[in-house]
Amino acid sequence: MVFGQRDRNKPFVARRNYQPNANANANRNNQTHSSPRRQKIIEQRKSLPIASVEKRLIEEVQKNDILIIVGETGSGKTTQIPQFLFHAGFCHDGKVVGITQPRRVAAITVAKRVAEECGYELGQKVGYSVRFDDSTSNSTRIKYMTDGLLLREALLDPYLSKYSVIIVDEAHERTVHTDVLMGLLKKVQHARSNSIKDGRNLDNGNKNTNGFMLLDKDNGQNGSFLRKGHREKSSPLKLIIMSASLDARTFSEYFGGAKAVHIQGRQFPVDIFYTRRPETDYVDAALITIFQVHQDEAPGDILVFLTGQEEIDAVERLIKERLSKLPQENQKLQVLPIYAALPSEQQMRAFEPAPSGFRKVILATNIAETSITIPGIKHVIDPGLVKARSYDPGKGMESLIVVPTSKSQALQRSGRAGREGPGKCFRLYPENEFEKLEDSTMPEIKRCNLSNVILQLKALGVDDILGFDFIEKPSRTAIIKSLEQLFLLGALTDDCQLSDPIGRQMARLPLDPVYAKALILASQFNCLEEMLIAVAMLSAESIFYFPREKYEEARTAAKSFASPEGDHITLINVYRAATDFLEKRTIETNKTKNEKDFRKWCKENFINSRSLRHARDIHRQIQGHVQQMGLKLASCGEDMLQFRRCLVASFFLNAAVKQPDGTYRALASGQVVQIHPSSVLFRKKPECIIFNELIQTNNKYVRDLTRVDNLWLTELAPQFYAMQN
Ligand code: CDP
Ligand code: MG
Repeated sequence: MVFGQRDRNKPFVARRNYQPNANANANRNNQTHSSPRRQKIIEQRKSLPIASVEKRLIEEVQKNDILIIVGETGSGKTTQIPQFLFHAGFCHDGKVVGITQPRRVAAITVAKRVAEECGYELGQKVGYSVRFDDSTSNSTRIKYMTDGLLLREALLDPYLSKYSVIIVDEAHERTVHTDVLMGLLKKVQHARSNSIKDGRNLDNGNKNTNGFMLLDKDNGQNGSFLRKGHREKSSPLKLIIMSASLDARTFSEYFGGAKAVHIQGRQFPVDIFYTRRPETDYVDAALITIFQVHQDEAPGDILVFLTGQEEIDAVERLIKERLSKLPQENQKLQVLPIYAALPSEQQMRAFEPAPSGFRKVILATNIAETSITIPGIKHVIDPGLVKARSYDPGKGMESLIVVPTSKSQALQRSGRAGREGPGKCFRLYPENEFEKLEDSTMPEIKRCNLSNVILQLKALGVDDILGFDFIEKPSRTAIIKSLEQLFLLGALTDDCQLSDPIGRQMARLPLDPVYAKALILASQFNCLEEMLIAVAMLSAESIFYFPREKYEEARTAAKSFASPEGDHITLINVYRAATDFLEKRTIETNKTKNEKDFRKWCKENFINSRSLRHARDIHRQIQGHVQQMGLKLASCGEDMLQFRRCLVASFFLNAAVKQPDGTYRALASGQVVQIHPSSVLFRKKPECIIFNELIQTNNKYVRDLTRVDNLWLTELAPQFYAMQN
């Protein structure tokens, strides 16, 4: 099967007589340095399909308050359109063009690229802001951010008044944040244009005609933000919804028949190969295919789609190991991972060309499907799987499961091989399996726990959640279940209002509601120091790694940190050991050596140094938040009982008890689960546990758990367990 240039319904036609705006051109030339890299970037930009339709696009934005732009991945939407808007004057009076991305990696890498294209230092004119990492300043005019982050900004500035244009990028991904954001932006846009019609500023009154409420002004810091934002004159807000999938209808209909434009892409033919039989071990199949391509195929980099960090790290190690056994001349393969939790310097390495004579193999999550385009890819290896969230509102249980991709995902993935020339895609499943795939992925809002977004909507003053204008409504059961959970956590009052101070504090913390509650309670249990570490470590994925070949060795190493009470305290021990190690090193001055020593220490202990660094970053950020909130930062010292009791008081919905056959019954959902083999309590099997998450592979596993006393459940969470008895 070969696919080539696809037809477009309404392609943009490049205008021969089109001359870019003379002023804009002069500006750009001013920034041109003559370095070869800059020259190359200028050439690359000019050759992008989008370059020839700049003027048309700007005209459409000027004419339409809401515009839907659909275009092939790699055509230049994300990197170019914000620059077009900037040059067309959309950033006058200090206004900002904001672009949301479903993924932090995309926001960061794209911002870096655009800053470089513009010749500005990152964080100045062009910046990014993602949870736990902000690189913007007062002079930032083009701001990339995650969709979730913009939702949070709306808490501080309900009219998003500093933005002249907001671009919701990758809308086809339909993340829960994107969906909620679209509903919110619709209201904000309406409110801003109404206020102009009425000739009023937005700082008077708490409610506009749309029933869209502002935050309470007496809400400490939020109030001052409000006043600052609203002194500025109101101005209309332009919305652009961008998508890589061809179907713009859903978005157009949702925005009242908004205009949609298509950008003609460029796509070379890609040969698709299938396996003869289903593969039992897709990781192994991927490895074999990587080496086959490396040894037999023409030059060109390889992109492999894997399901998550753990898998990527494992495959990276396995490739390196196999490479070391090959003859020297066959070893010229450079392995580069790219996934969300990867520190950004390392993410950027995936975009650099491989050293001369080398072939690059990029191991990516589905981030590389449409969010980011890595140049040089000619071969795609697609096991056909993706890690997806799935939520069962009946059982109140969320799980992360690996599921087959949809057809449209498979097509996007193979398309990555045909960006710069003809390519090949190796699907690691038989052809008849492809036909069985769903056409497209179900929007996340239909398959996730809604507590988080509901808490945020409540904090934004949207009281009637069931009546909110969702692009696609989540089920009533899912909404009610999440409201119930928030109520049980004390975030909502009896009449479903945001509680004060608990609910408000929870909404302010950029964390899952349960984690937020745990931190708030921890200050009362005198163990906030410990809980901060636990939450940071749990937020960073896979701290330990257990390579199959060295499984026993790794387990022994992990034992030196193990706490008999469980994984939470074990994680705290690791964090503290790392901090001790690093603090001793800072006395020495050589930074590179310190870094090397740290990585060595991590390696010896089978700890993922990247994850640990990420956890330290997260820790620093949340600590800032809780300090601002005035929570008491105390340690329970040796008395970990306090910490475990605090876990019960906050994570009580994640309690499970042992059954006679050694399996566990999760109390809130009634599901039968097992302890994940990576847990320090895997063999001990205590009577009653609190777990952090439930994952479903072949079995239902609970991961990251701590031993607790079952009597604490009724004592510390009577709102739930007293009722049950
Ligand atoms: O958003 P869309 O998929 O339409 O394209 P884009 O992300 O704006 O990418 C346009 C071009 O910029 C691609 O050809 C990429 O190869 C290039 N790019 C890059 O070289 N380095 C980056 N960090 C980002 C984009
Ligand atoms: Mg894009």
